Amino acid sequence: MNKYIIDVVPNPSSKTRIEFVKENENTHTIDFDAKEGSITVQYTTDKDVNWDTITLIYVGVGEGNTDKLYEKATSLAIAKAIELKRADVAIKVPAGYSFPIAEMAVRATYRFDKYKTEKDHEIELVELYGETIEQEIEHGVTLGESVNFARNLQNDNAGLVVPEYLVEQALAIANSCDLFEVEVLYEDNIKEKGLNLLWAVGQGSPTPPRLIILNYKGDEHSEERVALVGKGVTFDSGGLSLKPSASMVDMRMDMSGASAVLGAIKFLAEVQPEINVIGVIPTAHNAIGNEAFYLGDTIKSYNGKTVEILNTDAEGRLILADAISYVARNYHPSEIIDMATLTGAIVVALGSTVAGIFSNNDDLAEEIFQAGEHTQERVWRLPIYDEHRKAMKGKFADLRNISNIGRNCGSITASAFLEEFVEDIPWCHIDIAGTSHNEKEGGTGWGVDLLVNYLLR
Ligand code: BES
Ligand code: ZN
Ligand code: ZN
Repeated sequence: MNKYIIDVVPNPSSKTRIEFVKENENTHTIDFDAKEGSITVQYTTDKDVNWDTITLIYVGVGEGNTDKLYEKATSLAIAKAIELKRADVAIKVPAGYSFPIAEMAVRATYRFDKYKTEKDHEIELVELYGETIEQEIEHGVTLGESVNFARNLQNDNAGLVVPEYLVEQALAIANSCDLFEVEVLYEDNIKEKGLNLLWAVGQGSPTPPRLIILNYKGDEHSEERVALVGKGVTFDSGGLSLKPSASMVDMRMDMSGASAVLGAIKFLAEVQPEINVIGVIPTAHNAIGNEAFYLGDTIKSYNGKTVEILNTDAEGRLILADAISYVARNYHPSEIIDMATLTGAIVVALGSTVAGIFSNNDDLAEEIFQAGEHTQERVWRLPIYDEHRKAMKGKFADLRNISNIGRNCGSITASAFLEEFVEDIPWCHIDIAGTSHNEKEGGTGWGVDLLVNYLLR
């Protein structure tokens, strides 16, 4: 859907209707058990009006007791309507149950077909009808659109979505609302100010690195300001520590932390809540080539700590380190949340449906956990102990960029590295390498919902 037209109506005009069916209320017994994931299409005639054929899409929600069941069912039913090439569809909102139906409807219509000669079918109108619609429809539509925006950034070509492209996207968001102050560091500023880790990662590419800061000031009376830092590696070849093809193929999406942060900031620009949030995007292309940074070199970070580069594929932590200390020193946030496709190890630990979190603050970790439960973008906390911190100490420098205990607990040691740069500010790192994309959907937009929910809690 190009324009998300979601309409709340007493009586739907659409001849395609979606209804949720609980297992224990199922009267549509033929070939349909109303279990989670089951769907049936039936046809009836609109006798009272003009004898038109009505398509009824019944979708099962099993016990029908969680948001997640309804969310999954919404996307399944909309996929069916798309398959049937319907231009419009009406969803019957289940009585007495409130899940973010508008957001889910907008999300369900998402297709990335920019590069297909024959475009996927689009739904032009989604009507919502039913007894109780106590939902903030507009809020939901905006949130769904912000998720789809993030997915477009993830899915598009690495040759297009370069650091400067993220700058353009960020500026477009900031210019749409007058509550932003913007700072962008270009290559000269990055070098002059000494963000040498960010520079090192990006130096091998003809598309140079950037640091983007979108300072959203929605509440001038409050000292609270949350910094959201998103890893924006627009392509991760691994650098001289080159990745094998199979591991490299999805690495245009190594900017999924950045796209999630931009998605959340886009939502703020549109809804303009009374809070303060600093969106921070360190962005670089980790290229291979004769200009690329070297293994074995020691580089001084923005906060003065020196780092031995022992693997150029452990680049995310490098650009995040400089971004985190830059925002800590110059913007004094009350807390820092970073989101990054940081380690393959988190995929091994938690798979593709749960993200890992790491924190120096129990209250913050708990709040992020609760936001995850609420949005069903679930997170699970892993520890950082002194042995992990020790594993990141350098031999000839203060730190090393990969641990000296091998690949084991790689997500934890990566976090121990980041912790060196947070300057005692309450901080939570969210490793989304597993949740950010998958085979079936491509980029998932994971994290936009979680961040927005956390910010508006
Ligand atoms: N971008 C990758 C992590 C990643 C892996 C993201 C799979 C999405 C899916 C990151 O920069 C990386 O290469 N990490 C290395 C670190 C290692 C060299 C210590 C990894 O996880 O193997
Ligand atoms: Zn890498
Ligand atoms: Zn990476």
